[in-house]
Amino acid sequence: MDGNGRWAAARGLNRAAGHRAGLDAVRRTLEASREFGVSILTLYAFSTENWRRPADEVEALMQLLGEAVSDEADELIREGIQLRVSGDLSSIDPGLRREVEQVVALTRENGELILNVAYNYGGRAEILSAVRRLAGDAAAGRLSPDAIDEAALSRYLYSAGLADPDLLIRTGGEQRVSNFLLWQIAYTELYFCDVYWPDFDRTHLSAAIQTYQQRLRRFGGIESS
Ligand code: IPE
Ligand code: MG
Repeated sequence: MDGNGRWAAARGLNRAAGHRAGLDAVRRTLEASREFGVSILTLYAFSTENWRRPADEVEALMQLLGEAVSDEADELIREGIQLRVSGDLSSIDPGLRREVEQVVALTRENGELILNVAYNYGGRAEILSAVRRLAGDAAAGRLSPDAIDEAALSRYLYSAGLADPDLLIRTGGEQRVSNFLLWQIAYTELYFCDVYWPDFDRTHLSAAIQTYQQRLRRFGGIESS
């Protein structure tokens, strides 16, 4: 979700206002995802690198997460949406963390759609934390080095149990991955669009999905007839 700051600047607003408008785009995208039958929606909301931003912007982003979780909790429960978090929540405010974990626990059995929020998330950090725990298990004799295959490593990632994404959408015009789901996007179709995230809506999601449907996915093989 990129372009909140530029969206705000173009309107003479502060960056926090851009993030707030971005939250409306999150609601629209969640709604449209349900309509289109998306089974897992992962949103990159705060990266391990975003701590480098000014303190007031970091504060605004944390506050928005809190508001989003408390405002939407009932709706998520009612609509059968499962909330998951990918990222290290140990460094966020303990109260906010408890609140998030509570909604994750309350929606654990929901199966309508999985809303996976990447918060304090970095792809390299995720792989490192997985490898650290995996090495710990190997050193303790709980895991044989011969048993370490792709599936085994995947089980240590935040995304354990989730299918790899079919489609990655980046808004805001940049054409880079920026440390997002590095392991999981090995064969993901990439889609870049210029629209700033706060302007993203159902028609943009629909266009992205239609483009995706025209892609031929061979996963390293050859086209089969
Ligand atoms: C949103 O867009 C990214 C988040 C941290 C949620 P930006 O804040 O990166 O917006 P730009 O790139 O400055 O326009
Ligand atoms: Mg940006």
